[in-house]
Amino acid sequence: MQIRLVSIPGDGVGPEVVAATLPVIQDAALMHGAGLDVLEVDWGGERHLRTGAPMPDDAAELVRSHDAVLFGAVGRPDVPDHELVWGLIIALRQQLDLAVNLRPVRSWENVPSVVTSAPGTDLLIVRENTEGEYTGVGGRTHRGREAELGIEVAVHSRPAIERAARYAFEQAGRRRGQVALVTKSNAMRHGYTLWDEIVAEVAAEFPAVECQPVLVDAMAAQMIQRPAELDVLLCSNLFGDILADLAAVLAGGMGMAPSANVSPATTPGLFEPIHGSAPDIAGQGIANPTACMLSGAMMFDHVGLPAAGDSIRNAIAVALLDSSNHTPDLGGTGTTDGLAAAVRSALNRERNT
Ligand code: NAI
Ligand code: MG
Repeated sequence: MQIRLVSIPGDGVGPEVVAATLPVIQDAALMHGAGLDVLEVDWGGERHLRTGAPMPDDAAELVRSHDAVLFGAVGRPDVPDHELVWGLIIALRQQLDLAVNLRPVRSWENVPSVVTSAPGTDLLIVRENTEGEYTGVGGRTHRGREAELGIEVAVHSRPAIERAARYAFEQAGRRRGQVALVTKSNAMRHGYTLWDEIVAEVAAEFPAVECQPVLVDAMAAQMIQRPAELDVLLCSNLFGDILADLAAVLAGGMGMAPSANVSPATTPGLFEPIHGSAPDIAGQGIANPTACMLSGAMMFDHVGLPAAGDSIRNAIAVALLDSSNHTPDLGGTGTTDGLAAAVRSALNRERNT
């Protein structure tokens, strides 16, 4: 098997965590008899400043001729955030129709969380990834006047809800058989009641999976109080975005949470840490590469080589047992390259046993 990967390091800590991850995924591919061809592209903030756009017009086309994308992060202080987020990551999700965003979060032995109930957490956020509150429908008017206003329209469609729901139920069927449907249908009575109805229909196709509707505010509390009871959380675009950062804290912080943007059909998936470009720590070599390495593991799951994904996850677990590998976000004094090197040596020990 030959995997053709597009690498988008991006801005800030993006290039640091991607550079640490590439050798890890190369090793894992080799170990499992696969080859990995990497095409690195310069898409991101610097290109935006140079050319007026963070990626070329034919970006989606280029990606479609590959098997997967590994993406670091975008965002730099001298470019408005929405220009890069809309010009690159949201654009790719929409153009490639990457319908679902998977955000698994688990607690790790020897990795502390500020949330005392976190041990035993193993949950998966399945987030609708193309619409909801992030379609860009709306407008601004009366700029600079007293009556200035902005309208942001949430869009919820049957096809998008159905495919996200089906994905969540299938995943739950392979996990612990529980879906929590996260909405706010008590207060938002058009879009989210549609979610309630459609998800109930899909649930009927999966009798072995239990489904519980939970309002998003109650879910925020439950994720802190009893996170280990949660299995799959089915969320709209906005709620999944917010709850994933909350969930990351259960795992030890933003440096620990990976994600996969996938389409239930074919198309290449896009794999990325959920964190941003972290300008506050960029350039110091101390960003935690775990989220990016775990995103690489999810890439293997998606291209049909889950054993390589498991090898990476196991090697990360081993490396994290030694606190001297922990980066400062985990309370340690380790470095990006040091943690990645420890993961590689754990991988190579597995290969030799
Ligand atoms: P952020 O995720 O970049 O940083 C939040 C906090 O988490 C910071 O204190 C940072 O130091 C820490 N952090 C993040 N990643 C870390 C890692 N790997 N290791 C250790 N600590 C880490 O979010 P923030 O500060 O809101 O945004 C910074 C920039 O990133 C903005 O320009 C924003 O638009 C962009 N952004 C881009 C995303 C993407 O490319 N997918 C996602 C989120 C934000
Ligand atoms: Mg987010």
